[in-house]
Amino acid sequence: MLKKQKYTATTLAGLEEVLAQELIEIGADEVQIGRRSVYFSGDLKLLYKANYCLRSALRILLPIDSYKIHSADDLYQRGKNFKWEDLFGCDQTFAIQSTVFTDLFNNSMYASLKLKDAIVDRFRYKFGERPSVNSKNPDILINLHISNEYCTISLDSSGESLHKRGYRLDQNEAPMSEVLAAGLIRLSDWDRKSDLIDPMCGSGTIAIEAAMLANGIYPGSIRKDFCFRNWRNFNPEMFAQMEEEVQPNGIQPVRISASDISRRNIDIAYKNAEAAGVLKLIDFKISDFRVLEPVSEKPFLLFNPPYGERLTPDDTNFYSMIGERLKHHYTNATVWIISTPQCLKSIGLRPSRKISILNGSLECSFRKYELYSGSKKVAPEKDVAE
Ligand SMILES: C[S@@+](CC[C@H](N)C(=O)[O-])C[C@H]1O[C@@H](n2cnc3c(N)ncnc32)[C@H](O)[C@@H]1O
Repeated sequence: MLKKQKYTATTLAGLEEVLAQELIEIGADEVQIGRRSVYFSGDLKLLYKANYCLRSALRILLPIDSYKIHSADDLYQRGKNFKWEDLFGCDQTFAIQSTVFTDLFNNSMYASLKLKDAIVDRFRYKFGERPSVNSKNPDILINLHISNEYCTISLDSSGESLHKRGYRLDQNEAPMSEVLAAGLIRLSDWDRKSDLIDPMCGSGTIAIEAAMLANGIYPGSIRKDFCFRNWRNFNPEMFAQMEEEVQPNGIQPVRISASDISRRNIDIAYKNAEAAGVLKLIDFKISDFRVLEPVSEKPFLLFNPPYGERLTPDDTNFYSMIGERLKHHYTNATVWIISTPQCLKSIGLRPSRKISILNGSLECSFRKYELYSGSKKVAPEKDVAE
């Protein structure tokens, strides 16, 4: 029996429940929702699996010490007494990432610096030498979280954020985070079988994530780099076994269509889909949404139209064009759109669901519109939780 440990998976605000569901699906225990995070427990193999399989997680942290501090010096002293040498050696590089919500430190840089000094001083005292800091590509990434006087130190098993899947070779001017795209697809009620359309696909993130999800292709099959590979206890056989266990079994007959008005963006999306290994599963096309016809009887659309921080008259016209086009050409469609609440007001359709979500730092709304044939009406508003 492998030893069970407690872990924390971090995510974007609004995706906590999606992440919790994903964790349950991969076999995590004691799944508990936090703020932009989900706590869970499992063995070392589950830690590998979480990094490899989760689509809506940003990082998987292994808490190694947590305590109360009353001063910056408390952080230093406790950090100096911790047996860092059990976790890594002078021949490895490290970095510290801090999030700090406390009066004890003016900024997170200072907190990082205090902990870094403690680690370096301990190594020097014990071995006469110290590991170097590499903030760009460290072997060992340490996560420091201080909220009021509560301090938690964790090892970041992921390293680079998990939204960096490794398939984005190029991007348009406003690409969506891969984690957000995957989260939105799961938040929508897409059954992973019916045709999915992104008519404003930009660099293709929604289409690529949908193709991967429908076919059981996990993000880890593209990205090979995780910090846990540099840990002393890394077990390559266990990782290989996990990787074999989660291999997809066959291509699903699902049609995903992605179009955009910009030729350049379609070229980018095409290259990204190729890098993700899902090129065959997506039909790409250059098209203006003003003339785009649905490819199936009951289309399912999920997209993010362009939006600025402030609503302009052009935006108002653009969104009312989207509403008109949907009403007259997409009867029987289920449509999910993410944008700012101001822009979405101009669409002129009544949503049947609204979900608040942050896209970067911008407060957005993810709305569902159900269009019915004949009457050219939309379904009445039901669960509007925003
Ligand atoms: C916010 S971006 C979409 C980003 C995309 N989800 C991604 O991950 O890269 C909006 C996209 O809408 C496209 N667009 C703007 N007007 C359009 C129109 N009339 N028809 C089709 N696409 C349009 C832009 O070229 C841009 O790529």
